[in-house]
Amino acid sequence: MGQWKRLFNEPPGVPMTDWMQTIPNDGIIRYLDIFNSEAILPTSEAALAEVLTMKSEEFVKPRAIAKAVKSFFGAGLTFLEGREHKIQRKALMPAFSFRRIKDLYPSFWSKSCEFVDIITAEVLADPETVNVAGKSGALSSPVVDISSWLSRATLDILGVVGLGHSFGAMSNAKSSLLMAYSKIFMPSAQTQILIALNLFFPRWVVRNIPFKRNRELYDAAAVIRETCRAIIKEKRAVMEETKSTDVDILSAIQSSGADDDGLVEQLVSILAAGHETPATAVFWAVCLLAQHPEMQSRLRADIRTHLPSPKISQDAGAPTPPTQIDRIPYLQAVCNETLRFCPPFPLGWREVAGHRTTLLSQPLPKGTRVMVVPWAVNRDPARWGPDAGVFNPDRWMGPGRAGSGGASSNFAFMTFFHGPRGCVGENFARAEMACLLAVLVGRFEMELEHPERELAAKRGLTSRPMGVGVRMRLVDGW
Ligand code: HEM
Repeated sequence: MGQWKRLFNEPPGVPMTDWMQTIPNDGIIRYLDIFNSEAILPTSEAALAEVLTMKSEEFVKPRAIAKAVKSFFGAGLTFLEGREHKIQRKALMPAFSFRRIKDLYPSFWSKSCEFVDIITAEVLADPETVNVAGKSGALSSPVVDISSWLSRATLDILGVVGLGHSFGAMSNAKSSLLMAYSKIFMPSAQTQILIALNLFFPRWVVRNIPFKRNRELYDAAAVIRETCRAIIKEKRAVMEETKSTDVDILSAIQSSGADDDGLVEQLVSILAAGHETPATAVFWAVCLLAQHPEMQSRLRADIRTHLPSPKISQDAGAPTPPTQIDRIPYLQAVCNETLRFCPPFPLGWREVAGHRTTLLSQPLPKGTRVMVVPWAVNRDPARWGPDAGVFNPDRWMGPGRAGSGGASSNFAFMTFFHGPRGCVGENFARAEMACLLAVLVGRFEMELEHPERELAAKRGLTSRPMGVGVRMRLVDGW
């Protein structure tokens, strides 16, 4: 069984974090996985750069995994390779340019204000909330399922800001798309087993294994495709009618020349890649700030000094564009440190493509699996210093540290990967995270329902922590 037992039982990326710190190596660690299959863990900057940038076409997404998860995540950019990948990525890039995302800040802000108002209403409606005359805010505070609220918010933000379409997920907890995604991203041992089986058996065999989870996943995928098809049809009608030359994500996809089925697959993959990861990032930030009340208060003070209250934004009739949001150093530091310390996408898979290759001059045969593990690299003391395993936003403060956190190389921060397959949505995700976190921390004091419990990433595709309740207490005046 190789290292499978550890890999299966521990949160994703945790065994590799341990190996990277305890096994002396020259840039590569080799280990055995289930059925003693070979796996490689690149650890040095040179090895990671070779896999992700210099030889990105030789280290591809494992075909078996791509085949297995394409049904749920779309046969779009995320799983294309070679020329087709280049064409689609080029078509999509303008929708994610830094300039374009800057122009979208008011929309991110206004959706975030709507989000925090909905949570406020929920907190006030809870019988646990007691307002005491003369004292500001609410004293006792209910536990809010902020984790699922964040998924609803990021789905709506991606819809409205990125696609010009309203999914209505914040106002409707039973939205079919939302339910489909919550099935797909639900942490499940069966999903992990199904994905692993795809490495060894043909897809039709795995698909027909009578696991309840199999049926759930395929039903959810059908709902997602149906929704995407309807959105594309609707957008095409609007574009024809208005002769719009919009550069939102959906228009960029439509400009790629793909046929209707291709467009649906692209959209499915953007929705999958683009809503659960930012929700996970903000949820980690909330949990970490709840564990560190002094950082939370410092951040709140900064936010309240620099940003208008969501109430004021709405009273004025239009949201106040928070163009200064990326110039609030402590907010940026908290976002950066959360993304470093708890990367939402804890690990990624590659395999040696059609022919053998080398990594740091070591020959690797075709099919060798290569694991790229942001969770491990981002917590490596050799890159981040002895406090690498500590949540410390201050490492991003001070001259020359805002962009690097004090690390000497880009490859110390692997959250969005790097190179031609790096995340296209990084700017989008960062803007969204800053706006959502700012409104939440500006308005609420947050603490963990069970502070004594360790926060652990769930077993699943994103690292979202499991079973965490957050108490939300309104802080007046914002
Ligand atoms: C904090 C949030 C996010 C994180 C941590 C994240 C992380 C990543 C990572 C690590 C990859 C590379 C995966 C691999 O190659 O195996 C990736 C790819 C991708 N991401 Fe993100 N992502 C985030 C948000 C977004 C958003 C908001 C969007 C779109 C709206 C998006 C769209 C994509 C796409 C389309 C790819 C595939 C790129 C390609 O293969 O060329 N991501 N992301």
